[in-house]
Amino acid sequence: MRLNDKVAIVTGAGSGFGEGIAKTYAREGARVLVADINDNAGQRVTEEILKAGGQAKFVRADVSKSADMVNLLSSALAAFGGVHIVVNNAGTTHRNRPMLEVEEDEFDRLYAINVKSIFLSAKTFVPYFRTQGAGVFINIASTAGIRPRPGLTWYNGSKGAVITLSKSMAAELGPDNIRVNCVNPVMSATGLLTEFMGVPDTPENRKRFTATIPLGRFSTPDDIANACLYLGSDEASFITGACLEVDGGRCV
Ligand SMILES: NC(=O)c1ccc[n+]([C@@H]2O[C@H](COP(=O)([O-])OP(=O)(O)OC[C@H]3O[C@@H](n4cnc5c(N)ncnc54)[C@H](O)[C@@H]3O)[C@@H](O)[C@H]2O)c1
Repeated sequence: MRLNDKVAIVTGAGSGFGEGIAKTYAREGARVLVADINDNAGQRVTEEILKAGGQAKFVRADVSKSADMVNLLSSALAAFGGVHIVVNNAGTTHRNRPMLEVEEDEFDRLYAINVKSIFLSAKTFVPYFRTQGAGVFINIASTAGIRPRPGLTWYNGSKGAVITLSKSMAAELGPDNIRVNCVNPVMSATGLLTEFMGVPDTPENRKRFTATIPLGRFSTPDDIANACLYLGSDEASFITGACLEVDGGRCV
């Protein structure tokens, strides 16, 4: 198993990519702290991991709140005795629509969940990783951060910020043996799909989006989880500051 002896925290693990990452990590031997703002979703994923023979614990957390982030660290220490990998996956978007129609409170919420969360994660886990002498961050950004489409301007900007700050963190934290990488998924049929498309989820509307992806389909939670599995494992011990597109060629 590729993550034996590792403890991982996965935020937004109650659905979509986060659920896929948490289950893949558990299958590969990691003990997983399932973090989500949605209790039912997080508990469901945790129970499914336990039923499959894995090790997991659910902790409710709003990643935009400092106290909740600190509680993730103390919960992981109490439950599993350490933390090796933090996957900052929780994220949200405004509905796809003209940029000036997005309201200030939506912008603030978006940047708190997508960007401030990385700041809070760094403030919480970097001191711990420094003491431990190693650590891994994986930040889920998006192809939106490098090939923006119209209608998602503020979301695109938030993911651009995640990409740049991940690279900057990698440069600054390398001497501490802390690796920081990004995964850039292309669109997927997860909870955010309708908001991303801005139109009803019909086969015709899906086709408009998949037509721009050379491999001709959306990404899946397994696609993203497999990339995170590699980046979280010791096989990637010399990989930092990378942004891995998992996008069927969309960004070519
Ligand atoms: N779905 C896509 O097409 C797509 C494409 C590129 C990138 N992404 C990114 O992937 C990540 C996961 O998205 P997804 O598609 O799996 O969405 P999703 O809606 O299926 O899952 C997101 C999860 O995050 C949780 N969450 C939301 N706000 C939170 C908060 N403040 N604190 C803790 N948990 C919170 C939700 O409860 C949910 O369980 C996001 O960062 C998103 O921006 C998604």
